[in-house]
Amino acid sequence: MVKAIRINRVGGPEVMELVEVDLPPPGPGEVRMRHEAIGLNYIDVYHRTGLYPQPLPGALGVEGAGVVEEVGEGVTDIKVGDRVAYGGRPLGAYAEARIIPAAQLLVLPKQIDFDTAAAMMLQGLTVQYLFHRTVALKAGDTILFHAAAGGVGLIACQWARVLGVKLIGTVGSDEKAALAIEHGATHVINYNKDNFTERVRELTGGEGVSAVYDSIGKDTFIGSLDCLRPLGTMVSFGNASGPVPPFSLSELASRGSLFVTRPSLMSYAARREDLEAMAKSLFGVVSSGEVKIDIRQRYALADVQQAHRDLEARKTTGSTILLP
Ligand SMILES: NC(=O)c1ccc[n+]([C@@H]2O[C@H](COP(=O)([O-])OP(=O)(O)OC[C@H]3O[C@@H](n4cnc5c(N)ncnc54)[C@H](OP(=O)(O)O)[C@@H]3O)[C@@H](O)[C@H]2O)c1
Repeated sequence: MVKAIRINRVGGPEVMELVEVDLPPPGPGEVRMRHEAIGLNYIDVYHRTGLYPQPLPGALGVEGAGVVEEVGEGVTDIKVGDRVAYGGRPLGAYAEARIIPAAQLLVLPKQIDFDTAAAMMLQGLTVQYLFHRTVALKAGDTILFHAAAGGVGLIACQWARVLGVKLIGTVGSDEKAALAIEHGATHVINYNKDNFTERVRELTGGEGVSAVYDSIGKDTFIGSLDCLRPLGTMVSFGNASGPVPPFSLSELASRGSLFVTRPSLMSYAARREDLEAMAKSLFGVVSSGEVKIDIRQRYALADVQQAHRDLEARKTTGSTILLP
């Protein structure tokens, strides 16, 4: 028996219950792994509230790191005792141990510890594809990145610096602004004080940015379009304030033939060869120290309700892990 979080209905943090579950042996292509650390991500909130519907009763959590305890039939690339990590489906990371398809796992380089791995897989792989594939950024580009002091945000600030990209970040407080600058943002706007669209125009000499990375959704979408220069790309990759309402395509034409995309890590990492290439790139910048995974909150798995409350109340900065 292992301790795991289960939900029987969608709703607030209180729907998450710590229960004892039986783990079956791993089936063909699967492994059983024991978690040393578990990642907390905003997508966990969407799963818990039902914004992204999941079967019920259900498990939660999409990111973890630990040790392989048993491998199922046909698993050849992963061995018992391997140090592994993952960021993605199927849900079930909020647990002491779990069964997971071997195809989801990456063997960790020895210089990456479990806490770092659990904090970086989903958020780091996301920045990897956002900056290298959704838009292939190059030195000298100027971008706008919302929620720059969050988990994805602090990784993005540092990765932009590595690429020579000027990142204008938005944040909800002056403390968060200082943090984003410390991590490599070129400029930061506190959108609770200043109109971010006007500030972006000022900071770019009226030109606008070539790409906006918007994970806030409803509250910022139209303002974000107004920050783009003609032919710029709107990357809408999350909905912390709620989903983007329907809009007319003519909004894109009138602002200068804009592009818009709604990417998800799942589709970018669907092919094993892509996942491995993305992980290699992430492990590279983390191992070299160019990107430091800043774990700024740690909670016991049993305190996951509080972790969700803090995340939704915008009290967290950087990455957060749960310890089983
Ligand atoms: N599409 C993908 O592949 C993908 C993958 C990973 C993550 N994401 C998305 O990226 C975003 C960041 O994820 P994360 O785990 O790193 O979370 P996070 O950025 O650490 O936390 C969310 C942040 O969003 C900001 N925010 C703005 N309006 C908010 C609101 N109404 N309620 C709550 N927060 C609000 C807050 O920062 P301020 O106080 O500074 O405003 C908050 O700290 C999420 O939207 C997530 O879904 C997408």
